[in-house]
This record gives sequence, structure tokens and C-alpha cells, in this order.
Amino acid sequence: MKTALGQMKWIGYTARPLFGSSLIREESMRSIAVMNQKGGTGKTTTAVNVSAALAEAGSKVCLIDIDPQANASLHLGIEPRDDLKSIYDVLVEHKELRDVRQQVADNLWIVPAHIDLSAAEMQLAGVFGREGILRNKLKSDDMKFDFVLIDCPPSIGILTINAITAVDEVFIAIQPHFFPMYGLGRQVNTIDLIADRLNNRLKISGAVYCMYDGQAKLTSEVEQTVDEFFRQKQFNLPVCSHFREFQTKIRRNIRLAEAPSFGMSIFQYAPTSNGAEDYRRLAEEIIVQGAVADVKGAA
Ligand SMILES: Nc1ncnc2c1ncn2[C@@H]1O[C@H](COP(=O)(O)OP(=O)(O)OP(=O)(O)O)[C@@H](O)[C@H]1O
Ligand SMILES: [Mg+2]
Repeated sequence: MKTALGQMKWIGYTARPLFGSSLIREESMRSIAVMNQKGGTGKTTTAVNVSAALAEAGSKVCLIDIDPQANASLHLGIEPRDDLKSIYDVLVEHKELRDVRQQVADNLWIVPAHIDLSAAEMQLAGVFGREGILRNKLKSDDMKFDFVLIDCPPSIGILTINAITAVDEVFIAIQPHFFPMYGLGRQVNTIDLIADRLNNRLKISGAVYCMYDGQAKLTSEVEQTVDEFFRQKQFNLPVCSHFREFQTKIRRNIRLAEAPSFGMSIFQYAPTSNGAEDYRRLAEEIIVQGAVADVKGAA
């Protein structure tokens, strides 16, 4: 179906051949990177509040902030002090995740980020195996979680590559506007290439619509275009084979924008707001999605 946005060409997709994919899940822990190379699409708000909702529902959750902006850390009340031990120390200084992880609520831990992380890209240039540092640290971690979520920066450099090499799943946080959607296909192509070379377990398993306005015509046009794109790719692109668009859309809600300045998740700041309701529902869907995958995997 044609949309005012001119269909797939706006998404900017080029295909690569199908090969080298594995659907086998070896562990019960789910590891999910929340990404979109476009800035301000709701990645951090989603990573933080989905983590908090899953923790509230009884899952043991570790959120890793791998963005030098350290927004997820600030959102959960971590002060960016100079002596803060952070993901920088893990990636560059050979520390373990347990050396820098902090518990911030019942069932919820964070590996914080620090502005120092902006130097990591340069410091890691020339380091052999730099793409797999986080994956190896997660493998050797002595604490086990039900979920590990990673809040990615708005670019595909060594930090995002470390994130998507370490996880099994990617959620794309989409703001249903034209610019955030433009180039999505190229991004999917890049994720597919990284999956092919570095992590053949990787799947783009969901799109989360953030700052959603169901009344806007543009919203439904973007949704239709994105839907159509992933529906086609599901069958011929390994990284999209488990894709689903979540039924829950995250409505625009000012409480979600206010919560970070208090260093609180939406459940601590405004537990009865629409924002809290949406992220709780999304977390339920994510839990069900995992249960369905487990049943399929066991069949
Ligand atoms: N559903 C929402 N309703 C209202 N405001 C929102 C909502 N989701 C996110 N915001 C606000 O929009 C801004 C961008 O969101 P956020 O920081 O989560 O995006 P991001 O993709 O992580 O950005 P960046 O690319 O810079 O890391 C923030 O000020 C956030 O508080
Ligand atoms: Mg962010």
C-alpha cells in the first residue's frame, strides 16, 4: 500500500544474501539492546522504564548504560562523579561488571556510564577483539539475571557494536515521525551485517513506538510503512525473522519527561500515570514474547 512517505525507498534498504544464522537460544537470560542511531527517539526512556517494569514484575534485571551521555544512569539517580566506576572501566580498564554495577531498586541493577566513555572509541582503536569486550564480560559475569538491557548511544560506533555483539535481541525505539524513520532500512542492513560477522544469534525482535500520538495521520503512515518493511524482511533477512511490533505504544506523557530530573523511574515518580501504564503493559508483552520463544524453542 502506498503511503505519503513514499514507501520503502525512504527506509533506504539494500539486501544481503541469507546465510549464517542460528535460532538456538542457549540460556534463559534475555539480553536486549535498545537502539536507534537517530537521536531522541525514546531509547533511554524505554530502556530505563522497561527495566524498572520488569524488575517490578519480579524479574532480576541489569541495565547497562553504554552511552557517554549517561542518561540512563542519571535517570536512575546515579550522579556522574569523577570517581564513578562505570562501563568505561569495563571496556577500557579491564574491570569486571561486578566491580562497577550498582543496585538501584529491588531486582534492578545498573552498570552506569560516564562522560569518559566518549574517549573509549579512540582508546579502543587498534585493540584486538574490541567488538567483543562486553560480550566476554557478560559471559564471565558471576551474577545471573533474567534480563540484561543495554541503552545504546545514537550512533553505530564501537560502543553500539559492543552492545549488539553482546546481546541476542535488539529493540528499535521508533518515534513515528519522518526523520527518525528515514534511513531505518540502512540501519537494519548494518545490524544484519554486524550479526553476520560478529553475532549470529542476533535478532531484531521488536519495534517500540515512543511518544506515540494515535490521532496524527503521520503516525499511522509511519506505522504502515515500518510494518510493511519488516513484514517483507521477516522472510528473507535472518536478523528480522523474529520481528514483531509490540501492540503497546508508548503515548506521549509529560511524566515520562519529568521523571529523569528526579532520578527516578516512572514507577517511582508517577506510578499511576499513562507512562507507567504503557511501560507496564509493554513489559508484560516482552515477558509473553520470551515465553512464546521458549515454547517454540522447546518444540
Ligand atoms: N513517551 C514520552 N512522552 C514524553 N516525553 C518523552 C517520551 N519518551 C521520551 N520522552 C522525552 O523525549 C526526550 C528523548 O527521549 P530519550 O532520551 O529517551 O531518547 P533517546 O533516544 O535515548 O535519546 P538519545 O539518542 O539522545 O540517547 C527526553 O527528554 C525524554 O524525557
Ligand atoms: Mg538515550
